[in-house]
Amino acid sequence: MEIKQAVIETDHLSYCFRGGEKVLDDINLSVPAGSIYGFLGPNGAGKTTTLRLLLGLLRCENPGIRLFGHQLHTSRIEIMRRTGSLIEQPSLYLHLTGQENLEVFRRAYDCPKSRAEKVLSITGLSNAAHKKVKAYSLGMKQRLSIAVALLHDPELLIMDEPTNGLDPNGIIEIRELIRDLSQNQGKTVLVSSHLLTEVEKLATHVGIIHQGRLLFQGTLAGLQNLQRQQSLLEIEVDKLTRAEQILSTHFQVLPKHGFAVQVVCPDADQAALINYMLVSGGVRVSRLGVAGNDLEKLFLQIISA
Ligand SMILES: Nc1ncnc2c1ncn2[C@@H]1O[C@H](COP(=O)(O)OP(=O)(O)O)[C@@H](O)[C@H]1O
Ligand SMILES: [Mg+2]
Repeated sequence: MEIKQAVIETDHLSYCFRGGEKVLDDINLSVPAGSIYGFLGPNGAGKTTTLRLLLGLLRCENPGIRLFGHQLHTSRIEIMRRTGSLIEQPSLYLHLTGQENLEVFRRAYDCPKSRAEKVLSITGLSNAAHKKVKAYSLGMKQRLSIAVALLHDPELLIMDEPTNGLDPNGIIEIRELIRDLSQNQGKTVLVSSHLLTEVEKLATHVGIIHQGRLLFQGTLAGLQNLQRQQSLLEIEVDKLTRAEQILSTHFQVLPKHGFAVQVVCPDADQAALINYMLVSGGVRVSRLGVAGNDLEKLFLQIISA
């Protein structure tokens, strides 16, 4: 198996804001070179805090944050040279055109002139380069912010929920851009999201964070394998409590969920058995299927695996 060097590593990273509770607890992140690493977790899980720590935007004495093999707190400038990021709302000049915006940052960062055209082309903004940014859609503004982050041609790009607030088209454009950055521009990309479906469409590697703890880390295939091993069946019945009683003798039944019973099932083929057990116990089954694929369900699967 090919062993790829980790571009980002954290070693037992914990963090609390002043006077507060632990927001991150023992996070061992490992982002392989060349990966699109989807950092997945619900709101409040600790994604932004983690990314801010990786970029040195929050004070942290932990020597175990390493980027490109260098410790963050001793090699900050070297690391910044090789890293681009998009964390907060971008600060763009709305009264200037896309190209003029890039020109401001290009001069500030002292990048070659040709680079501005290049990043406009990478982000698909060449045709809109002479339009004022205030006339840009949200998705175009987001792409322009990514263009700014790419000006110094970083090897690593760190983005915090870049598709938040975008319409479906804008989301697709950002997804395709990230794919292109990885495949054709050779970048390693760390991108956070609270949407499992987004991460599944894009990532090669996944880290799942929940209440400040990393519940899963591995390849996307590894995650999908785990999901297959633990299907979650959802069964709509007329007598909920009776159904739970019957099924809990053989299966792990999850806490109540509307009019349906949810059962962790190592093998979806056991649906027939479940149906039989219920019907012969006097429970009417109106629907039985594999539960939908969202983050909340994935957590239950991981925790019960
Ligand atoms: N500046 C802050 N001071 C105190 N608590 C904070 C601060 N920023 C975030 N938190 C808390 O830290 C936790 C993680 O937040 P955050 O990293 O923003 O999560 P996410 O980005 O996954 O939504 C939340 O409980 C949040 O309320
Ligand atoms: Mg956040």
